[in-house]
Amino acid sequence: MYQESLYQFLSQKINDRNIPFNEEESITFLMRISSNFDVIHHLYLTIYQDHPKRSENFSLLTEILIDGFLKRPQQLRQLDAQKKGGMPWFTSSELVGMSLYVDRFCLDLSDLRQKLNYLLELGVNFVHLMPLMKSPQEASDGGYAVSDFRQVEPRFGTMAELELLVSEMHSKGMYIMLDIVLNHTSDQHEWARRASAGEEQYEQYFYIYPDREVPDVFEKTMPDIFPDSSPGSFTFDVQSGKWVMSVFNSYQWDLNYTNPEVFVRMLEHILFYANLGVDVLRIDAPAFIWKKIGTACQNLPEAHTILQLIKHCVQSVAPGMALLGEAIVAPAEIMKYFGTGSFMGRECDLAYNATQMALQWDALATGDVRVMMAAQRELLKKPLGTTWITYTRCHDDIGLGYDDSMIQEAGFQPMRHREFLKAYYSGQFPGSPARGALFGVNPKTNDARISGTLASLCGLESALEKNQAEDVELSIRKIILMQAQSLFIGGIPVLFYGDECGYLNDYSYQKDPSKNYDNRWMHRPAINWERNQYRLQKGSIEFQIFSKTQKLIRIRKGNSIFSDTANLVWLSMQNIHIAGFKRSVASESIICLFNFSDKETGLTWYALKEAGWPEQTKIKDLWSGLEFQVGKDDQHLVFQPYQFMVLVKN
Ligand code: GLC
Ligand code: GLC
Repeated sequence: MYQESLYQFLSQKINDRNIPFNEEESITFLMRISSNFDVIHHLYLTIYQDHPKRSENFSLLTEILIDGFLKRPQQLRQLDAQKKGGMPWFTSSELVGMSLYVDRFCLDLSDLRQKLNYLLELGVNFVHLMPLMKSPQEASDGGYAVSDFRQVEPRFGTMAELELLVSEMHSKGMYIMLDIVLNHTSDQHEWARRASAGEEQYEQYFYIYPDREVPDVFEKTMPDIFPDSSPGSFTFDVQSGKWVMSVFNSYQWDLNYTNPEVFVRMLEHILFYANLGVDVLRIDAPAFIWKKIGTACQNLPEAHTILQLIKHCVQSVAPGMALLGEAIVAPAEIMKYFGTGSFMGRECDLAYNATQMALQWDALATGDVRVMMAAQRELLKKPLGTTWITYTRCHDDIGLGYDDSMIQEAGFQPMRHREFLKAYYSGQFPGSPARGALFGVNPKTNDARISGTLASLCGLESALEKNQAEDVELSIRKIILMQAQSLFIGGIPVLFYGDECGYLNDYSYQKDPSKNYDNRWMHRPAINWERNQYRLQKGSIEFQIFSKTQKLIRIRKGNSIFSDTANLVWLSMQNIHIAGFKRSVASESIICLFNFSDKETGLTWYALKEAGWPEQTKIKDLWSGLEFQVGKDDQHLVFQPYQFMVLVKN
């Protein structure tokens, strides 16, 4: 809706800033901001209409947007322009990612520059650096408790080194993802310190109460996120004698987004990251940013409005930076992070496909893909032009967050099914080869999640202990099967560092008091570069896993069909052990089939015929190189335990 006064307001602000109107980039910026401005205004008012300081903060927001553009470096403006046109750049099959801790993967930021070639050797060209802004070493939650959003943690290096790394990555054709920890700050952040000292302006940045009255009401409906290590959602702050909301760890104080000043100042940080050259901004824990008494304080409509507002601001200033919403929530909820109604496709550009990730673990434990299949109807609703981050492991635990109805649809009893999965992966189930641990055990709800590295959960740790060559081989097959599905299903696959060489659980965190309360550290290894050299030694475990991962990546990058153009259909299930989908563009198609069971099993050729490949079609498996011909309906294509195939017409 055109509002004249609003445009006069914008024009005035622009004139005040002396934007050089003769430059093409300035003109495109003016066009972008003008076309987004009333949506920005509308979304802003949806949240802050009744706030006494709404006007001054809106004015500040407008200035920050204009400054954000003025400060945007020339090369980044050019990159913005290059990324435009066609399907969004982040849907491309050319992208393959890795997530890593700078100080655990190598030494620091400058050492990481020396390691870029290692990533490229593997085929990784998209890197998620785990949080690297300043964070108290003893109370850091792996960097997710930020004490300064603008300074790199000194152990990792300097801002100048970060800038150098980003420009070197860009010059090598690589992309970078960084976090903005939106929901909370460290209790050591200046805002928190000043709030704790009783400065009213900063008290309003957080949820702070003089006694337990309001916290008790909130806590009635707020689930515990870290029930064992940090139960409850409030912390007593000794200095102020008050109670502070801290949904995650007690040292992570929740920011209060009902205060527009908080929004505006965090948006300023977002644009600062954009101007560092971030390609994808990972918005940490967005599901939690709005709180309301009487609710779970997750996934509330206002949280979506704030994300849409961020999207439109970023779109105006730094259109080349995409947004990833790190919401690890139920399948129906996750869809909403891509935007709903008239905002469909205009909220987050990417989200984690945590449901698919967890369902792959489900299928691997049960050898049965029916629950995975039951969830797909929901997952296929993702709008065109948005995409997933696909993954098998990350720095967090594996939550079994899919719906009970999906488990039921597959014919299982939800409670017992989840109990089995937890027992299986924590190694308690008799005969289970998995070596993981339960995380976030909540005796009240019987809920728990799972920690452990890809390799240990796939049985490599126990196989090596028992010195069983056959089991070692089987575990490697499982590892590659899991990675294969994540690489071919659509979205940016993001590997977790260490998994490319089969790192096992690292139990040393148990001796470190800053980590021992959080067993997610068991799957955050410190890389031993001498060991990673074994990737070049034929026959070693590192070699097998690394070279197979490399090959999967080559297959993905070599076939643009794997770009996410919403071109996936699941094949109807002809065998409960085998999941299969077809990806196609025009008359070309690739069929991927994954056997999740530990037994040899056969798929009747009818399955391929039904997928549109008739009898006698000549086909080839890009993975094994084997060639076949589609046989009769009642004959079988045979799969070895955990075998998968990537079939093309030959
Ligand atoms: C996200 C991070 C997780 C962290 C939490 C709190 O979920 O992935 O590691 O503990 O946010 O910041
Ligand atoms: C919860 C949150 C998720 C976070 C995780 C950290 O599951 O929903 O966002 O990654 O905790 O362990």
